[in-house]
Amino acid sequence: MSQVTSAQVHTDPTQFPGTDVYAVAGNPITHSKSPAIHKRFSEQSNQKMHYGLLQPELGEFKTTTQAFFAAGGKGMNVTVPFKLDAQALADVLTPRAQLAGAVNTLHIQEGKIFGDNTDGAGLVRDLLAQGIQIQGSRILLLGAGGASRGVLGPLLEQSPAELVIANRSNAKAEELVRLFSDLAVSLDVVLQAVTLGDLEDASKIASPFDLIINATAAGLSNESPISNTAASNIFTPQSFAYDMVYGKVTTLMQQALHRGARVSDGLGMLVEQAADAFLIWRGAQCSDAIDSRAVLAELRTS
Ligand code: ATR
Repeated sequence: MSQVTSAQVHTDPTQFPGTDVYAVAGNPITHSKSPAIHKRFSEQSNQKMHYGLLQPELGEFKTTTQAFFAAGGKGMNVTVPFKLDAQALADVLTPRAQLAGAVNTLHIQEGKIFGDNTDGAGLVRDLLAQGIQIQGSRILLLGAGGASRGVLGPLLEQSPAELVIANRSNAKAEELVRLFSDLAVSLDVVLQAVTLGDLEDASKIASPFDLIINATAAGLSNESPISNTAASNIFTPQSFAYDMVYGKVTTLMQQALHRGARVSDGLGMLVEQAADAFLIWRGAQCSDAIDSRAVLAELRTS
């Protein structure tokens, strides 16, 4: 199989005169669903734009992005592994991007690069659209890496009763608790850190959880971050298990289904974070025209 090189995966804004050009940058990027999602949003809202792919070599995100904007690019989505590079590159960060510690959406305005993070808002909107009650709920967030940090602020802002962060190693979960403790206190949310091992001991967790969100990288490799003993402690038929990975029923989702819980993959989060990015770029007046749930339904059947 011939290898796709980064030089081949490059959107050059000068090739689209008279059209506003956007792109998603990641490595690898060829399987991204973002171009299809943004194409549908632009059709729904009658926006003339082109949305392509960029695959910078590792270590070349900054030069690729600067060249893209210098050539007239209007905005960019950023995915693995460049979200921290995007944060470092932005001239101006929104408060939620600062809190998230990462940037997934860039746009240029008066020569300045603005960085935002729409991942957490996307997750929350997908959960609410699926009828999940977040306010007053008990949430278990699995993982304490960048994906967890990115969604913690928006989750806390929904005022759950309790949010427990569980990670393999304790230090990273404790660090997230420290970073978000002021916000949690101000919203009256009990925020605490445990290890994944603690979840096996029913005496260490007060009761099963309403909402379990997998933000670990384990789902990508067909592993579950939790043992079956832990699964029996945290899931009930009233639980809802959400895996940020999409396109498959992950092992964690299978553990939840086996115990009668409802499950979701993360495709809706992908579509909803894209919707927020689209509105940042094209203006809030497009919000009535775009129908993210219809786009999600189309993706599921395509
Ligand atoms: P991301 O930006 O995707 O969150 P990351 O910052 O590298 O990536 O974080 C990955 C997270 O997945 C971490 O919480 C990691 O746990 P550790 O901090 O203990 O390393 C977690 N993780 C990765 N593989 C895992 C596995 N097989 N089981 C459980 N947790 C796993």
